[in-house]
Amino acid sequence: IAATDYQAEDAVVSQGTVATNHTGYTGTGFVDYTNVKGSSVEFTVSAVSAGTASVALRYANGTATDRPMDLSVDGTVIASAVSFPATADWNTWATKALDVPLTAGTHKIRATATTANGGPNLDRITI
Ligand code: GCU
Ligand code: CA
Repeated sequence: IAATDYQAEDAVVSQGTVATNHTGYTGTGFVDYTNVKGSSVEFTVSAVSAGTASVALRYANGTATDRPMDLSVDGTVIASAVSFPATADWNTWATKALDVPLTAGTHKIRATATTANGGPNLDRITI
């Protein structure tokens, strides 16, 4: 089954802004999480069949400090304080892949910053 990209700039952003001030993003921009705990991006995704999906988050973190985030599905945290460690700079993107159990149908996948630094810059998720 082909993977689907969901752009962060098209998702529901809470305490963050869509930005273009660094290079290497896909789509039309990326989300710059406000540097506060609880800032989040929520994607509406659809799964054609039930099973474990690999969710790849493409991010940049141009600081030396981890920017952990909780990942939730339909309001339930399924991975806590997932590490988003430093990338070389804000123009350098990495992917973090997580196994996420999904039933068939539409789901809300949210990535929420767990520290006062906020999340990393987030380009997209691919499922
Ligand atoms: C810089 C950078 C932003 C980033 C921010 C941060 O301002 O340009 O893209 O989001 O640092 O520390 O979160
Ligand atoms: Ca930020």
